[in-house]
Amino acid sequence: MDHSDKLQPVKGAMSRSRFLQSAGLLATSGVLLNWAGCKQPSEKQSNQSSTKTDTTAAAAATATMVKPVRVAADPLKVPPPVNWSSPRTHQIEMVAKEMMGEIKPGVLFHYMTFDGQVPAPMIRVRQGDTVDVTLTADKNNHNPHNVDFHSCYGTGGGAEYLTVGPGQKKRIRFKAMDPGAFIYHCAVPDLDYHIASGMFGLILVEPKGGLPKVDHEFYFGQNEMYVKAPVNEHTPVEFDYERLLAENPNYVVLNGAFNGFTDQRYGALKANKGETLRIYFVNGGPNLISSFHPIGNVWSKFWMQGSLSNNSFKKMQTVQVNPGSCAVLEMELPVPELIHLADHSITRTARKGLKADIAVAGTPSPDIFQPLTS
Ligand code: CU
Ligand code: CU
Repeated sequence: MDHSDKLQPVKGAMSRSRFLQSAGLLATSGVLLNWAGCKQPSEKQSNQSSTKTDTTAAAAATATMVKPVRVAADPLKVPPPVNWSSPRTHQIEMVAKEMMGEIKPGVLFHYMTFDGQVPAPMIRVRQGDTVDVTLTADKNNHNPHNVDFHSCYGTGGGAEYLTVGPGQKKRIRFKAMDPGAFIYHCAVPDLDYHIASGMFGLILVEPKGGLPKVDHEFYFGQNEMYVKAPVNEHTPVEFDYERLLAENPNYVVLNGAFNGFTDQRYGALKANKGETLRIYFVNGGPNLISSFHPIGNVWSKFWMQGSLSNNSFKKMQTVQVNPGSCAVLEMELPVPELIHLADHSITRTARKGLKADIAVAGTPSPDIFQPLTS
């Protein structure tokens, strides 16, 4: 495989017509004219009848433009709990896919993903199960990709044997030896760029006796994004290697989306007073430690590093989750409220987009909390 592009930003990573076709945007010439980031003006564009710049046509086309694909994983997309009691083999098919998404409205970005979502799909197995992974690379990709499973004993966590160029397919098999929530991530030489662009996820290895039942399970992944300033709202922002080297991201987000799970975008998650809630949390990084805190609540249980070999910590306020690691966290919900999930390196939440809300419904609990003035 070819690593010749390592440590190089991918400029115009996906050919414009190719991306537009895949995203269903190749509708009018006006739309194409709006994608000013094109580096290949001579490229054949089947539906493009004119290359002249016509701002009226462009504006009209913008109005009809299909929205970029959502990459933010639905936090509710959690596989069901383990209900088997003898070892199984799981066939896991994953597709490494480069695609256009939106960091926030008007800020387009070439994400790199597994299965088109950030974080990558959560995998759930039981200790002692076998994980049989096939990684396929989308034929329209421009970079090599692979997967390093932290839950895997084997060179590179399997990455050595899973590196795939566009259109290629590779396969490994490993036994899930230890219970816990483990990160998996792309591990090509340019891995910090790839992880910052979305290539990380979580595999939960349940202990043999399973996990206690809870009312809600949510899945979140944190990562940093290092990008240059937008040129306009129709041109994807370029990755910024200087910011990466300085570990100074413009955005720190949950599930790849600026303030994703708030009223500003996909909405708050929902729960009810008296219920229990568990979060599977992966910090892709690539560089920053998360100080994960539920504003308005306390983590009732916290399994550090996601390890389920150890006992949980109880009643923790702000917990450390290293890049390249996970946490399993639980909350009790004794009052109706709006909980804000935050990184208490708080500028990231105040300004850089790390915010997700959980709306807890129910009757007031004045013995626990009571506003005395409005
Ligand atoms: Cu990759
Ligand atoms: Cu790693």
